[in-house]
Amino acid sequence: MSTLLPVGSPELLERLGAHAVRLKALSPTALYGAGQGRQASYSLEVEGLLVDYSRQLIDESVWRELLELGAQANVPAAVRAMYTGVPINHTEQRPALHVALRDRGGGPLQVGDTDVRELVHAERAKLAAFVLAVRGGARRGASGERFTDVVNVGIGGSDLGPVMAVEALKDYAEPGVAVHFVSNIDGTEAVDLIARLNPATTLVLICSKTFTTLETLTNARRMRAWIATAMGEDNVAAHFAAVSTNHPAMDAFGVAADARFTMWDWVGGRYSLWSAVGLAVELAIGTAHFESLLDGANAIDRHFANTEGAANLPLVLALLSVWNGNFLGCHSHAVLPYAQRLHRLPAYLQQLTMESNGKSVARDGQQVSWHTGTVIWGEPGSNGQHSFFELLHQGTHRIAADFLLPYEGPTGELADSILTASNALAQANALARGRTLEQVLADPKVKAAGAAGVAFAPHRVHPGGRPSTVIAFERLDPATLGKLIALYEHRVYVESLLWGINPFDQWGVELGKVQAEALVPVLQAVPTGQGAMRWLHAALQATGLG
Ligand code: F6P
Repeated sequence: MSTLLPVGSPELLERLGAHAVRLKALSPTALYGAGQGRQASYSLEVEGLLVDYSRQLIDESVWRELLELGAQANVPAAVRAMYTGVPINHTEQRPALHVALRDRGGGPLQVGDTDVRELVHAERAKLAAFVLAVRGGARRGASGERFTDVVNVGIGGSDLGPVMAVEALKDYAEPGVAVHFVSNIDGTEAVDLIARLNPATTLVLICSKTFTTLETLTNARRMRAWIATAMGEDNVAAHFAAVSTNHPAMDAFGVAADARFTMWDWVGGRYSLWSAVGLAVELAIGTAHFESLLDGANAIDRHFANTEGAANLPLVLALLSVWNGNFLGCHSHAVLPYAQRLHRLPAYLQQLTMESNGKSVARDGQQVSWHTGTVIWGEPGSNGQHSFFELLHQGTHRIAADFLLPYEGPTGELADSILTASNALAQANALARGRTLEQVLADPKVKAAGAAGVAFAPHRVHPGGRPSTVIAFERLDPATLGKLIALYEHRVYVESLLWGINPFDQWGVELGKVQAEALVPVLQAVPTGQGAMRWLHAALQATGLG
C-alpha cells in the first residue's frame, strides 16, 4: 500500500509515519516508563463508559498529531450530514439514519417529503402495543394458548444484533416468553427448535429487510410447514409476524396486516437493531428495557454530535484504530468482553465493522492505495486467555485488543468482580509491558533451573507493545449496551471518513447472495442415488472453476 491515508496533509502524514517508525522501535519500558500520568492523560469517562487507552502505542507528540488528523478529517460536518439525512450512502443514494431510530424527541426530521421522526415514533408505538399484546396474552396462537416462545428467523443484521442483545440482557429478560433464533441455511437451528417447541404456543417472527434473503426465506418456509402441519393451513397466519421493507413479499407469505412491521431503506441491516428488527429483543426484555437501550444509544449520539476533538470518544477510538492499522501495521483487532453475557458481541461487531469498512474502492470510485478495514474477532475473557492469548502475547503479529469490563458481574459478588477485573487488567498490562529477557533471567524460578533456565529463557520473553483499550462500565444493563453499540457504530463511521470509503453499502456480500441462488439449479441437476461421495464429486465439478 503506497499511500498512508486519503485525509491529512502530506506533511502531517509524513510526521505520523516517522512517529510510527520511532514508536515501533521503542521498547515498552521506554514508552510506558513508570506509567506516571498516562492513565490520566489517555482516558475518558463518557456517559458511564470509562475508556482507558493508556496502553496504546502513543505518546504526547503522536497523540497531538493524531488529533490534528482528526481535525483535518472534518468529522463534525460528516456527523451533521449523517444526522440530517444527507444521502451519505452514496452508492445506494440513501441516508444512513440509524440515529433517528433512537432519537428522543426534537422537531421534525425532514428527508424529502417525509418526517422521519414521525415515522419512527409511530412504528415504535405499534411495536410496543404488539409486545404488550403478546406478552400480556391478548394476542394468542390459533388454539387460544398464550405464546411462550418466539422464534426470530433472520440472518446478518436481522439476526446478529438481536441475538447479541438478547444474550447480553438475559438478566433483564421478562418471564413468560422465551426468544430463540434461526439463521443458518443448513437448517440445524430450525430442526432443533422444531423438535422441542410446541407449535401451538410458538410465534415465528420473520425478520428480513428485503424479504428476499435465501437463508431467511428457506428457514421461514421450514417453520411455516411445521406450523401448518400442526395447526392447520388456515391457522398459519396467527403464528407469524414479520419485519421488512418489502410489503408485497409479506403479502405473498401471508403475514397478517396487524403483525407486520416496517423499516426503511435509510437503515442499513447492520445498523438496524434499534428499528423493528429489535422486536425479538423487545419481546424478550419488555418495552421499558428496550426504551433504555435506545436511551443509551441516544446518549452516545448526543455526545458524538456535540463533543469536540480529544473528548469525542468515537473519534478517539477511530484515530487509534487507524493509527494501529495504517501506521503500525496492526490490522487485526480482538474484542475481549470480560462478561460472558457479551459472548455474541465479537460476532455482532464483525458484521458491523467488516461489512461496513471492508472496502477497497474509495468514495470517488478509485481503487484505494491505503489499508482499510480491520479484522475483528474475539471471545469472552477469561476463556480466551486459555486459548488464543498465546499468539497475542508471543506471536509474530501485533494485534490490538479491546477489553470490555463491567464492575458488577451476574453474581453480584464483589469478590467475583475483582477476580474478573484482575484477569482482564493483568492481560492488558502484560500485552503492553511484556517481559524482557533480563526480567526472565532475574526470576527466582528461572535462576533455580540453572543452565536449562537460561537456555529456555527466550521462550519466556514477551515482547510487549501490544496495544489495547479498556472499556469499563458499572454493569451490563440495557442503557449501557445501547451506549457500547452506538460507540462502535460511530467509531466505524469515523474510520470510514479517515479511509474515504462508504461504510453503508455491501456490494461484496450481494455478489455472493446472487451467485448462491444461481447455483441452486446447477446442483439440483446433479444426479442423486449413487451415494454421498459421488454426489459431492459431481457437485464440486459442476460448480467449480473448471
Ligand atoms: O449479508 C448481507 C446482508 O445484506 C446484510 O447486510 C444483511 O444484514 C443481511 O444480508 C440480511 O438481509 P435481510 O435483512 O434483507 O434479510
